[in-house]
Amino acid sequence: MVKTCSLEDIDINYRQMYVDLNNKNEEFETILATLKGKDELSTKNLVSIDDLTIEDIKLIFRIAWPFKAEFIERDMKKIPLLKGKTVINFFFETSTRTKLSFELAGKHLSADMVNLSGSGSSMSKKGETLNDTVRTLNAMHADMMILRHSQAGTPMMIADHLTGPVISAGDGWHEHPTQGLLDAFTICENLKTCKGRTVCIVGDILHSRVAGSLIRILKKMNATVRLCGPPTMIPKYADEVFGVEVFDDIEKGIKDVDVIYSLRVQTERAAAGFIPTIREYSKNYGINLDRINLAKDNVIIMHPGPVIRGTDLGNGVMEHPRCVVEDQVTNGFCIRMALLYLMVKGNPGCWKDHQGKSDEKIKLAKKKIEKKLKEVSR
Ligand code: NCD
Repeated sequence: MVKTCSLEDIDINYRQMYVDLNNKNEEFETILATLKGKDELSTKNLVSIDDLTIEDIKLIFRIAWPFKAEFIERDMKKIPLLKGKTVINFFFETSTRTKLSFELAGKHLSADMVNLSGSGSSMSKKGETLNDTVRTLNAMHADMMILRHSQAGTPMMIADHLTGPVISAGDGWHEHPTQGLLDAFTICENLKTCKGRTVCIVGDILHSRVAGSLIRILKKMNATVRLCGPPTMIPKYADEVFGVEVFDDIEKGIKDVDVIYSLRVQTERAAAGFIPTIREYSKNYGINLDRINLAKDNVIIMHPGPVIRGTDLGNGVMEHPRCVVEDQVTNGFCIRMALLYLMVKGNPGCWKDHQGKSDEKIKLAKKKIEKKLKEVSR
């Protein structure tokens, strides 16, 4: 028997449908196909939360949930859903959680996962451009690419050179859309829904791509968003641009919130220069057990990782019963399995369009060559 899901952001009919199909011992693949129905994601690529409609988000959640039930709660190991598909995991920055979770998600679905790093490619010492590298990988018929890059906009740029979809695994300070999805899923799972919840994001918002996606998805799902941090680390006009409330006093920022979301100071992006000292930052914005008491009783404490203990989160916070940092990691794996399933297996409409575009390009090139040949033979 499977547990009934309490995520209100997944329609009750789908939740019941899953329970009924499971009780009838239907094959997991049939269950997924039934839950998906005729719905497709409205986007071919996922480079920003802005690519997703609210219906897309609900579709991803309703597929991620059975993955969680089967792979985590019932310990299913592997299914042949993406057998024969090749997914390239291209990372230009270090990563533990995101890279491994995409890799494991793909492997559990039987896709061939190929890992490539910027320093391990011909770009680093031989001078090949990123676009040419991506075209080379496309010529090897990669079915999808996951890209993490230190420059904002890179996943968008390479999407034009690939036949298959691109998922951004984080680009510079811009966005980290799969992190936003897993965060919203974790909030829904613990607090039933994001709608009407108050979330305070604390710390280095300016340099955080995690905040970039989290703010967007929470606003889409009708949550109230507060940003709290040193004024130098809050993007200018954030209140007007994103419709959020801004605080520089932590006690006021986290008062009565449903979610405290702590962020790391992005020292690799020179963020330490935006604050007097890490010690002072930690004193003013670190989340400790006393501060947690200012929030609602059933508050959840979140962090995208890596957590800097003693700076972002004080003693005992990671061990606090309401700290869901590890749930975020588990949910990331389930959200990414759902995305791979929906984006690699589904979306045939977008694929055809894209293929159509390349066919047009080839036809045009052929015409040009024929014209030239005629001119030469005259
Ligand atoms: C973040 C990242 O790299 O964007 N981590 C993650 O992917 N879970 C956040 C960070 O590095 O602080």
